[in-house]
Amino acid sequence: MIFGASGLLGKDLMREWTSDEIVGLGSRDADLRNANKIREVVDKARPEWIVLAAAYTNVDDCESHPDLAFAVNRDGPVNVAHAAKQIGASLLFLSSDYVFDGKKSSPYETGHERNPQSVYGRSKAEAELRLLEVLPDCCIARTSWLFGIGGNCFPDTILKLAATRPALDVVNDQRGCPTYSVDLARAIMALCRNHASGIVHTTNSGDCSWFEFAREIVTGAGLATEVRPVSSQQMARPAPRPAYSVLSAKSLERYGIAMPTWQDALKRYLAERKG
Ligand SMILES: NC(=O)c1ccc[n+]([C@@H]2O[C@H](COP(=O)([O-])OP(=O)(O)OC[C@H]3O[C@@H](n4cnc5c(N)ncnc54)[C@H](OP(=O)(O)O)[C@@H]3O)[C@@H](O)[C@H]2O)c1
Repeated sequence: MIFGASGLLGKDLMREWTSDEIVGLGSRDADLRNANKIREVVDKARPEWIVLAAAYTNVDDCESHPDLAFAVNRDGPVNVAHAAKQIGASLLFLSSDYVFDGKKSSPYETGHERNPQSVYGRSKAEAELRLLEVLPDCCIARTSWLFGIGGNCFPDTILKLAATRPALDVVNDQRGCPTYSVDLARAIMALCRNHASGIVHTTNSGDCSWFEFAREIVTGAGLATEVRPVSSQQMARPAPRPAYSVLSAKSLERYGIAMPTWQDALKRYLAERKG
């Protein structure tokens, strides 16, 4: 059972996961905040695994709507965990690199202390802790900088802007791991098949700044738009972002899973986008 089936990741999970019987739900099918409804849909389908990819993902809007952020991103997952526990289903919850403060300069391991700086990050960090209380064996798959065909994402924005502007300013002082939703969907399937539990860092391999990512997107699409590096201060946004949120692949390697590089993933995304 996939919660968030209408989202960026959810669409690829629905497309890729053809080997098993899948039930996909969007917010109109079952709102995470409605504990009774969640229990009802889980009870009816009695899934072996629940993948919880539903969330309030607009990081900047979360700053001005903290109640909604905590209701959907923390309390909602707790409702799902209780429903899963009742029927003995396994749970894989999608979390984020934004649970970290970004003050490190080497990849974050799964056990590193959480210290979220934004409302979104706090809602995810608190969800992780609550889920581990309700279902100690659940799997928490932290990912980052998600891109794909099924929704708004950074490469899509860059390509739309690059088509109409001669130059783009992009921040060069935040580093992370871009992750293609198709590769993430495949890694999630592999984690479920491996009966994964605990925290797993699940991103494409390699890292870059948003500026480096944008430059590769523009070049890969064959555009001549100039991409200029700027600082986060010059591009202030409501929610603070970690300066460095590269996630170590060690936890994923424990399951024998290796994700492709983000450059390879970007090439496949650009080809898929071109159709
Ligand atoms: N995007 C990123 O860069 C990123 C980075 C790190 C982690 N993540 C995590 O990865 C997961 C997938 O992200 P995504 O980018 O695929 O998300 P997305 O495209 O924003 O999709 C969000 C999904 O959640 C559903 N949803 C929203 N509010 C809901 C509610 N109250 N009840 C039930 N469902 C609700 C939406 O359903 P409707 O469309 O039907 O409303 C949609 O299917 C999320 O847990 C996210 O926090 C994302």
